[in-house]
Amino acid sequence: MMKRKKITVVGAGNVGGSVMQRLAETGNYDLVLVDIVEGLPQGKALDLAQAGPVCGYDATIVGTNGYDETADSSLVVITSGIARKPGMSRSELLATNTKIVQSVVQAVAARSPNAILVIVANPLDAMTYVAYRVSGFPKERVVGMAGVLDSARFRTFIARELQVSVNSVEAMVLGGHGDAMVPLVRYTTVAGRPLEQWMAKDRLDALVQRTREGGAEIVNLLKRGSAFYAPAASTVSMVEAILKDQKTILPCAALCEKEYGLNGVFMGVPVRLGGKGVEEIVEFALTQDEQAALNLSAKGVHELCGEVDQLLGPS
Ligand code: NAI
Ligand code: 2OP
Repeated sequence: MMKRKKITVVGAGNVGGSVMQRLAETGNYDLVLVDIVEGLPQGKALDLAQAGPVCGYDATIVGTNGYDETADSSLVVITSGIARKPGMSRSELLATNTKIVQSVVQAVAARSPNAILVIVANPLDAMTYVAYRVSGFPKERVVGMAGVLDSARFRTFIARELQVSVNSVEAMVLGGHGDAMVPLVRYTTVAGRPLEQWMAKDRLDALVQRTREGGAEIVNLLKRGSAFYAPAASTVSMVEAILKDQKTILPCAALCEKEYGLNGVFMGVPVRLGGKGVEEIVEFALTQDEQAALNLSAKGVHELCGEVDQLLGPS
């Protein structure tokens, strides 16, 4: 009998729970859900298993507060960490989430040395760096989720503005997952036609700005936490690109060592995502302004990674 691939999701909160639900419904995987809170992953796993007969899936779903059940995972999604509350920036989460991601990655990497790590915890680019540093995994196997979400937000706003299907809109938001993210307007198209030909500049600028603030808009509405449906869907699109070796080009946080003129920083860039993880960073030709915006975003991430280095100590 063919062995199912094992996926571990760490963090059984809003994002982790939604990721599990989508994976149970769409895939044919062995799923393990881990959380520090006693009963939470066990309860969610049992609840999800009991949805199986109704939805017609047979996924094996285990909830646990330990890591032994995660051994030999093909892929681990890390959502464990505190989320933003109104008025908080993603970088204010840095100290707490560095410690959480550090301990989780140590436990996961020891039991699944060949896994691919997909990081979701914020501040995203810095937490992806924590996972890379702590795991010691090759850069191809450590990738962060943000660009798919930010691009999906941009696509949603464009589609609503033009009253067209989201499926007609293609967009790529690059850069770090923060206010300095870089929506690449020049490469955004609707039915193949450049966005700039579809709307006036002031409307376009307003949609770019709304995209940059897309996370905060939802935090301000929810008041008790941050977005999770779109983040979970975005995460699962990356998981599937990897486990089904789809080689989809998606904007993901990947270690840029020379690409885009960047020097050793995790940044949102177009990535060919497949069975080996980050199989290639695809380089788009950028204008001077676009490159300057990317450099500014990279500078912010670089500073956060400096704080991470202080928290983790020498490697
Ligand atoms: P949540 O609070 O609903 O869930 C987080 C879970 O992590 C909780 O159940 C908590 O008990 C668990 N946890 C904390 N410490 C742990 C540890 N040491 N080991 C195992 N589990 C632990 O938060 P939510 O909404 O699920 O968000 C999770 C993280 O993802 C946050 O940092 C949030 O900012 C980030 N996020 C990132 C996005 C992105 O685009 N990259 C999008 C949405 C959320
Ligand atoms: C978001 O963009 C909180 O980073 C998360 O919704």
